[in-house]
Amino acid sequence: MSKPSSYSLLKTINMGVPSSFLPAFFFLSCFICLYPDLAIAKHAATGITRHYKFNIRLQNVTRLCSTKSVITVNGKFPGPRIIAREGDRLVIKVVNHVPNNISIHWHGIRQLRSGWADGPAYITQCPIQIGQSYVYNFTIIGQTGTLWYHAHVSWVRATLYGPIVILPRRNTSYPFVKPYKEVPIIFGEWWNSDTEAVIKQALQTGAGPNNSDAYTINGLPGPLYNCSSPKETFRLKVKPRKTYLLRIINAALNDELFFKITNHTFTVVDADASYVKPFETDTIFITPGQTSNVLLKTKNLTSNTKFLMAARPYSTAASGTFDNTTVAGVLEYNSNNMLISNASLKGLALPPLPAINATSYVANWTNKFHSLGNSQFPVNVPQTVENRYFFTVGLGNDPCPKNQTCQGPNGTKFSASVNNVSFTLPTTALLQARYFGKTDQVFSTNFPSFPLNRFNYTGTPPNNTMVSHGTKVVVLPYNTTVELVMQGTGIFGAENHPLHLHGFNFYVVGQGTGNFNATTDPAKFNLVDPVERNTVGVPSGGWVAVRFRADNPGVWFMHCHIEIHLSWGLRMAWAVMDGKLPNQKLPPPPSDLPKC
Ligand code: C2O
Repeated sequence: MSKPSSYSLLKTINMGVPSSFLPAFFFLSCFICLYPDLAIAKHAATGITRHYKFNIRLQNVTRLCSTKSVITVNGKFPGPRIIAREGDRLVIKVVNHVPNNISIHWHGIRQLRSGWADGPAYITQCPIQIGQSYVYNFTIIGQTGTLWYHAHVSWVRATLYGPIVILPRRNTSYPFVKPYKEVPIIFGEWWNSDTEAVIKQALQTGAGPNNSDAYTINGLPGPLYNCSSPKETFRLKVKPRKTYLLRIINAALNDELFFKITNHTFTVVDADASYVKPFETDTIFITPGQTSNVLLKTKNLTSNTKFLMAARPYSTAASGTFDNTTVAGVLEYNSNNMLISNASLKGLALPPLPAINATSYVANWTNKFHSLGNSQFPVNVPQTVENRYFFTVGLGNDPCPKNQTCQGPNGTKFSASVNNVSFTLPTTALLQARYFGKTDQVFSTNFPSFPLNRFNYTGTPPNNTMVSHGTKVVVLPYNTTVELVMQGTGIFGAENHPLHLHGFNFYVVGQGTGNFNATTDPAKFNLVDPVERNTVGVPSGGWVAVRFRADNPGVWFMHCHIEIHLSWGLRMAWAVMDGKLPNQKLPPPPSDLPKC
């Protein structure tokens, strides 16, 4: 692994040897003969247990000539990488040394029957308070590639995030050429001010939040920003004629990004830790919450040669402003390890990126993704549907409280919703409430399956754009199949909404522009090789259709991964019931589950 400057590998203590072969074999074979229909059986864990300790503490970080104290894992920004093989168990002790509430989500991990370790605050757990700790304990089953972890409470994830690298099982390999090196490329967003103050102010005034001051690659903003020091540039040092695996993660709070390296192309081989049919591209598009492994083949260059890499946002937001700056880094052949001045970097050609509002590029991009779909990695897209849902996703507003002036649309406050319900976080965790049968006091099960008021979603907005509020979930019987069409609305401007589902991967079976047509559109669904992922963009002024099987008992959050939309209420939850058999039930909570 190469080491981007601000990274260091956390020491892992590998406790426990792989369980001895014979008992595992007997266990597996009996298991499969008893429950032949369970995909989980053939992936049953046979890996090792890896222990990590995350001390959550404040650390001074300087960027763009300003120093601030930020919330970190073990003093690292971005956080240390977690490495495991498919089939391994991760045991991560998180100790909170900061005054803020903390919870950590292992974004994209399926968490089969380990919902207590999923992490979103007030959904699967109460936050870890100062001086408290919680051990996240889960096994990686049937996933290889790149995922990531991030804080899942308020806007703490602005600085608390890091990569999860999942390697194939020992003695198995990637379904593509073996890379010479693997490098995480994590996009983030940097504020000179305190992000907790930014979100607090936005929610108080009802306006859109202040913009970030920079985008970052592996925590570094690069040469195009004022007052960026040469040490604040990410350098990817490469050798000629080698294949590098870039593990790309968009950890930015509020922005979808285009990414390109001058004079180079990528081969995309994976999305959200699922293999895809490889395809070539010179420009990556990635939403917050998405990850992708891409191969970069270096040129035959024998001298010290540099190319810029750059990322900047895609935005169609009509309401409010956004950070329209560009982060740059360097791809450097045959490095001499000398510091590179910003002036000399600015002399290099900036890779030409698509227009800020290049919606057609984004639509074509999404259509390029197809599951690899071979005998080893089959496509398990449900062919029939037992539960059908149609959700509108988008912005709305709330009235301004008396004796206050608000700075949202027409003097109101911005809000956001799914089927016009802006989700209110409870004060105790939904999963606990469900497990202990206290649901009535915490949530209701009447989340609407369809919009209660229909309108021309992508046309002229209705007169009344006010949202309703509630803590409502959809209940799904165990192992039933779901089709969900998500329709973007144009209220206060059409935007791409990256919807993320916890606890599952879904198959993206269709997308389109305008309003979904339930008569003609399903005929065009791809039920052969749709891409499998955990986050998908609901197109700006369009819709997307996904399918999944509710094979994981628990309470699972689904939300827009644009942090301000999440804060405004563009979120809901699915309560998946236990099955009949013992191995189809959610186990009891761990004894150290934080109390509210
Ligand atoms: Cu990466 Cu609920 O989020």
